Amino acid sequence: MPDSDLAPQPLATATALPAHYYSGAETAARDRHAIFARNWQLVARSAQVATPGDHVVCEIAGVPLLIVRGADAVLRALHNVCRHRAGPLALCDGLAAKRLRCHYHGWTYALDGQLLSAPEMDDAEGFAKARICLPQARVAEWRGLVFAALGDGAPSLEDLLDGVDARIGDRRIQDYVFHSRTSYDIACNWKTYIDNYLEGYHVPHIHPELNRVIDYRSYVVETKRWNSFQHSPLDSGDTLYGSGEALYWFVWPNTLLNVLPDRLQTNRVVPVDAARCRVEFDYYYPAGLPDLHVRHARDQAFSDLIQQQDVGMCELVQRGLESGSYVAGRLNPKREDGVHHFHELLREAYRAGAT
Ligand code: FES
Ligand SMILES: [Fe+2]
Repeated sequence: MPDSDLAPQPLATATALPAHYYSGAETAARDRHAIFARNWQLVARSAQVATPGDHVVCEIAGVPLLIVRGADAVLRALHNVCRHRAGPLALCDGLAAKRLRCHYHGWTYALDGQLLSAPEMDDAEGFAKARICLPQARVAEWRGLVFAALGDGAPSLEDLLDGVDARIGDRRIQDYVFHSRTSYDIACNWKTYIDNYLEGYHVPHIHPELNRVIDYRSYVVETKRWNSFQHSPLDSGDTLYGSGEALYWFVWPNTLLNVLPDRLQTNRVVPVDAARCRVEFDYYYPAGLPDLHVRHARDQAFSDLIQQQDVGMCELVQRGLESGSYVAGRLNPKREDGVHHFHELLREAYRAGAT
């Protein structure tokens, strides 16, 4: 690929990332290596790992992980890969485990990853249980959400989320209660979906209903080193979200936080292969919210409507990207600074990944 694809671009003259980064044989492996194996992923909710032995299974860039609260109350992200012959320690989420037993031959580990016992290994010369421990990934909690990262290359979670706390203000989203998850399988590259999320330029054209409740002219994008923030006044009437603000954060590389009055929705945009992704919407509301059932049904219906409009366009854009007709178009500096910010982070990651 030409090096010029990856040179930094000023916003005023910027073009989009070229189409060949959105499809083709190398794309999934490149993104896994340069991005997902090096950055924070939203992997669990703190409420799922509240007490010792509670655990969640997940995977980052092909590495199976076990997020587990230790007997010492410390949260760890252990590799869910036995040191004997790579069997799994846990197959699903669970509560209050005393220890972790491998499903293959029964080697048993403490909740901090230390090997405790290995059946019938007495004849193995020099075998020292004390020296065998499950490797760990980084893990950190923020407002009830658990993030994990492989390797040491990712910024601190504090830097990743720079500015978010200040803007969330007194909204106590850490006390909101998880309600439900809706997943969407989409025929587009994960970056196509995020590109679309990052601009309001398309709102008047494909989202007539959303355009009526947010003020597109007041739509503002602010970028930080590792996240970008879109916000707009919101006036949705009493039957939807009421009035206030719509706050939308993109957190590098694939976490989205959508805060509306009395509602948090997180989105994870997970690559399946170069041309497909899965997007998970998790809904949270304050405890004791009156008429939660009705409120969620309306929220979900509205969210689904907007999502179907976005998905339809993302899938058409993916066809355009794969058509061979298009390379890279000019970005709108007034309306697509969020896309530019994302593409600059991608270019930076690919430059680093190539070394
Ligand atoms: S692979 Fe885990 S005990 Fe054998
Ligand atoms: Fe949209």
